[in-house]
Amino acid sequence: MTILKVDSVSAGYVPESNILHDLSLELNEGEIVSVIGPNGAGKSTLLKTIFGLLKPKSGKIQLKNEVISGLKPFRIAQKGVSYVPQVNNVFPSLTIQENLEMGAFIRSDDYSDTMEEVYTLFPVLKERKNQKAGQLSGGQRQMVAMGRALMLKPEVLLLDEPSAGLAPIFVSSIFDKIKEINATGVSIIIVEQNAKEALKMSHRGYVLAMGQNVLDDKSDALLANEEVGRLYLGG
Ligand SMILES: Nc1ncnc2c1ncn2[C@@H]1O[C@H](COP(=O)(O)OP(=O)(O)OP(=O)(O)O)[C@@H](O)[C@H]1O
Ligand SMILES: [Mg+2]
Repeated sequence: MTILKVDSVSAGYVPESNILHDLSLELNEGEIVSVIGPNGAGKSTLLKTIFGLLKPKSGKIQLKNEVISGLKPFRIAQKGVSYVPQVNNVFPSLTIQENLEMGAFIRSDDYSDTMEEVYTLFPVLKERKNQKAGQLSGGQRQMVAMGRALMLKPEVLLLDEPSAGLAPIFVSSIFDKIKEINATGVSIIIVEQNAKEALKMSHRGYVLAMGQNVLDDKSDALLANEEVGRLYLGG
């Protein structure tokens, strides 16, 4: 079943020009879908548009059977979509625990179980829960950002470059965590520079260039595609 559908969306930051052109993408329940493509292709813009930070100028975005394009980000979050931005994705002057509490800001129920789940997924965050997020390593900050997003118990998680700037050993541990999150039933769209590794853990992938879909297929097929390899996966 399709959980999220981006249908012929065009969007941009200024009225007179678009960054995304007629872009379509589907995320099925339980999937990890990778979005890859060169710098400036519009990958981050796509995630911002899904999360309501940019409003599509044409086309629509549906979560299950409901149109969410045009809604404010906090409404989209309330409906079960969480977003981890590429940059500035933690509150550096707040502690880990406070960052997680901020993630639950729009919840009115008791979220202590969810916080325990996040701490179980990322034990290092529990050990350091009173430490300020700004003092953490890049990998740990990324865990805080993901943990914050999970505090909403999302059905769909949007991850923008979770491995950016991390040493290779931390890249694989972040990717392992993403697989674990997916195994709990969260459907995931991940944007990655580390395209090959991202595709390896994804079910399907989309190649974006200049704001348009160039190709989409099962990850295995994209990994085996010579042109994709040469242009987007570093040979
Ligand atoms: N806030 C903004 N205002 C105006 N233009 C922007 C803004 N953010 C991005 N852009 C432009 O939109 C285009 C797509 O940028 P975007 O950040 O979506 O690309 P990306 O595929 O995520 O690239 P990267 O791999 O470098 O993260 C670029 O031309 C960029 O300059
Ligand atoms: Mg980006």
